[in-house]
Amino acid sequence: MKSRKPLVAGNWKMNGDVVANEHLFTTLRSALERTSTSRIDIVVCPPFPYLGQAIAWLSDTGIAVGGQNVAAADQGAFTGEVSAGMLADLGCRWAIVGHSERRTLFGETDEVVAAKTHTALAQGIGVIVCVGESLEERERGLTEAVLARQVDAFAAALAGPGRERVVVAYEPVWAIGTGRSASNDMAQQAHRFIRDRLALQDSEAAEQVRILYGGSVKPSNAIGLFSMPDIDGGLIGGASLVADDFLNICRAAAAA
Ligand code: 13P
Repeated sequence: MKSRKPLVAGNWKMNGDVVANEHLFTTLRSALERTSTSRIDIVVCPPFPYLGQAIAWLSDTGIAVGGQNVAAADQGAFTGEVSAGMLADLGCRWAIVGHSERRTLFGETDEVVAAKTHTALAQGIGVIVCVGESLEERERGLTEAVLARQVDAFAAALAGPGRERVVVAYEPVWAIGTGRSASNDMAQQAHRFIRDRLALQDSEAAEQVRILYGGSVKPSNAIGLFSMPDIDGGLIGGASLVADDFLNICRAAAAA
């Protein structure tokens, strides 16, 4: 039995609309009334325009709501950005930071990811910081070097205030949205590497930090992945849009 409480987060990416979301929230609510989820933490991260809708539907269920991104700055002339303070004001408890799509499509560097992490923590928001290598980096034997660089950039957060609100997500880029998940052993090896790397900053905090796996998690592979010693739940893309799949992944995390 792991001492860390499992966490499952759904990253909806740029999907959803008011009617479809309502259907998803209704199913999640009624399933949760029948199932005890107190053994795990569940987070749903819809696009920004639907955060209020998510909070209205889920605030009394125990499911937390998070943003998919957050600004590095606190406030000011940053057109199009959403601050951590705004997320907190609305009732969001989490923000995803440094997703590979933000890194590759929107140019987020390790420094930006670190700045966003520190700002969110300072505003009382929990962070799910994403790391992971591309296929080319894996094939060139660079996986550990890439993970070390990405982890070192934000590791100081583990030694500061709010460190219990830091969650890491290992998402190998080649497994995201491809249907090709990392094997249990491959994922475990990367998670152990990340934990050992964080231990260089603070060994006690590194043992307590939750490290999620993301990349083509489905109900069929969730239990195997979540049973590995250093995998503490998942960051779920496509399957988080299908209520039954998401619920079955949550049940796998509770059972692992
Ligand atoms: P998929 O679960 O669709 O592969 O996406 C993973 C992901 O990017 C979650 O952040």
